Amino acid sequence: MEDWVALGYLLSAALFIFGLKKLGHPRTAPFGNQLGALGMLVAVITTVLDMQLSDGGVVDWTLIVAGVALGSLIGYVMAVRVQMTGMPELVALFNGFGGAASALVALSEIQKYIDGGTVPTGLELTVTMIAAGLSALVGWMTLTGSLLAMYKLKGGVSVFGKWIKTPTWGPPWLNPVKVMLVIAVAVLIYLSIDDPTNTTYLWSIIGISCLLGIVLVLPIGGADMPVVVSLLNSLSGIAAAFTGFIIGNSALIIAGSLVGASGLILTFIMCKAMNRTLADVLFKSFGGSGEKQSLTRTKVGSDADEVAMMIDGAQKVIIVPGYGMAVSQCQHQVKEFADLISDKFDTEVKYAIHPVAGRMPGHMNVLLAEANVPYEQLIEMDEINSEFPECDVAIVIGANDTTNPAARSGEGPLAGMPIIDADAARTVVIIKRSLSVGYAGVDNDLFYMDKTMMLFGDGKAMMTGLNNAIKEI
Ligand code: TAP
Repeated sequence: MEDWVALGYLLSAALFIFGLKKLGHPRTAPFGNQLGALGMLVAVITTVLDMQLSDGGVVDWTLIVAGVALGSLIGYVMAVRVQMTGMPELVALFNGFGGAASALVALSEIQKYIDGGTVPTGLELTVTMIAAGLSALVGWMTLTGSLLAMYKLKGGVSVFGKWIKTPTWGPPWLNPVKVMLVIAVAVLIYLSIDDPTNTTYLWSIIGISCLLGIVLVLPIGGADMPVVVSLLNSLSGIAAAFTGFIIGNSALIIAGSLVGASGLILTFIMCKAMNRTLADVLFKSFGGSGEKQSLTRTKVGSDADEVAMMIDGAQKVIIVPGYGMAVSQCQHQVKEFADLISDKFDTEVKYAIHPVAGRMPGHMNVLLAEANVPYEQLIEMDEINSEFPECDVAIVIGANDTTNPAARSGEGPLAGMPIIDADAARTVVIIKRSLSVGYAGVDNDLFYMDKTMMLFGDGKAMMTGLNNAIKEI
């Protein structure tokens, strides 16, 4: 490899690593993102120039420029238009496209052999075919799995105006089927080493891998989706690393390994947050039937004045944000509320952050950071739970599953998931539009407790009303 190419890849790898480091904190994350994007730009320019100079001008500039322009335009429009609440779906989609892109590059290498190009021999052929097979397995599986995950996060898909709910389905016999599909791909990869131009093997690997992505994600639902999304993210990186081996591109190997490793770390963090092992998530189908529980109980709602008066005199208030805060975008009103009561009533205010609150890792941290809530007030679930018994008021804003005592029962989609112990506070105020269930579809006993006051309505409207009522005291 030419020295300047190695230098270009080294620079891009360094930018990825520094970018990743900066992503570790909300304050430095935007800069980390920019460093990562710059690293990718350096890697792309280095690769294209290398192809142009060392392979004697093989680059079709029209295609390259058209691809960059079209990709940038689509990426820009999607990034600008996406709502904060749509981010998890977009991330799932990007994971899928990443996996498919890697698998397509690997496929194009094999296509060269089929078109009569020089087929390597011996160890080189074995390594190439194994890497290509694994890239296809992981890449296509990531594509179909991610598309299904995206529709699961959306809740369904609209076909000709009719809303079709994404199913959650995982009978026990599906587990041996998953194992058999993996074995089938392994056998096909082995066979393809002896016959690298056999298109039947190739298309069978692609078909089975696509099916595998679907059967892997289909049974997972409810509260376990964070695990599957981070796993798919990791798989998209692993597919890229395999493809890097096939085309001999060290930047792709490094970037793919970084995504694969960081995605895997996140997967295990999510597993810990859900109190499950990865095998449990993949094979035990905690998601249940995907059906939402029907509600039979009722509860009379309170109003902002009543809640404001109750908060007057509270020494300690813990705010428990959830997905509804993201939907209503009321983080600024929440911050104003915290400032108001600490100034006016001298109340101590903290925020209880559940690791899977919202729809993406760190969702609550990002929203509250945007509203300039001091980081030291954001306390992780494990740390803050012991403080609820001496907390006067827990204010739950759009959180549901992450506070649902049903998780302690050991049954249903939430079984075993650690929750924020809001029910241990002296009084609980819950802001949401109705008594309806959360993401996992489980009715929440917390709403019906005697000490709970429900403020029914949109998060932003309710917080604004509450702030006005507090100002008038
Ligand atoms: P959820 O259980 O999803 O409940 C959110 C609640 O917000 C809903 O019950 C809804 O009730 C309320 N809401 C919606 N829009 C609102 C609005 N405009 N104003 C006020 N309230 C509103 O929330 P959670 O406690 O944050 O739990 C997150 C769930 O998502 C967990 O099951 C988790 O496993 C899953 N999940 C998480 C992730 C990640 S990585 N965080 C990814 C995928 C899935 P109303 O309709 O009555 O208002």
